[in-house]
Amino acid sequence: MYSEKVKEHFQNPRNMGELPDADAIGKTGNPVCGDLIWIYIKVKDDVIVDIGFKTFGCAAAIATSSMLTELAKGKTLKEALKITRAEIAESLEGLPPIKMHCSNLAADGLHKAIEEYLRKTGRSIEDL
Ligand code: FES
Repeated sequence: MYSEKVKEHFQNPRNMGELPDADAIGKTGNPVCGDLIWIYIKVKDDVIVDIGFKTFGCAAAIATSSMLTELAKGKTLKEALKITRAEIAESLEGLPPIKMHCSNLAADGLHKAIEEYLRKTGRSIEDL
């Protein structure tokens, strides 16, 4: 059911855990299954220099969180906002159709973290 890449990221998640010195945190949940995610970002000159996640969710949610952190690290906030759930799923060599909604968590969590960072610095997405 799952690709090798999904299994691999589920078994060896990248960047798992809280960042104690995070500049912003994005929390989101899936109302259907009740799963939750927190994305922690550290930002310097509008670049995501470090990122971590905590996910209470299914294997797909953990694998997509892991992949998201790999895709987002080193990107500018503007570039990171363009990461879509489809891109995450593609990078994982696909997700079963019934699991596509799980990839929303990671992408939405990152968006919320970026919005929180901008709010804290007195800016909005339009300022990027
Ligand atoms: Fe809840 Fe996958 S079933 S995120």
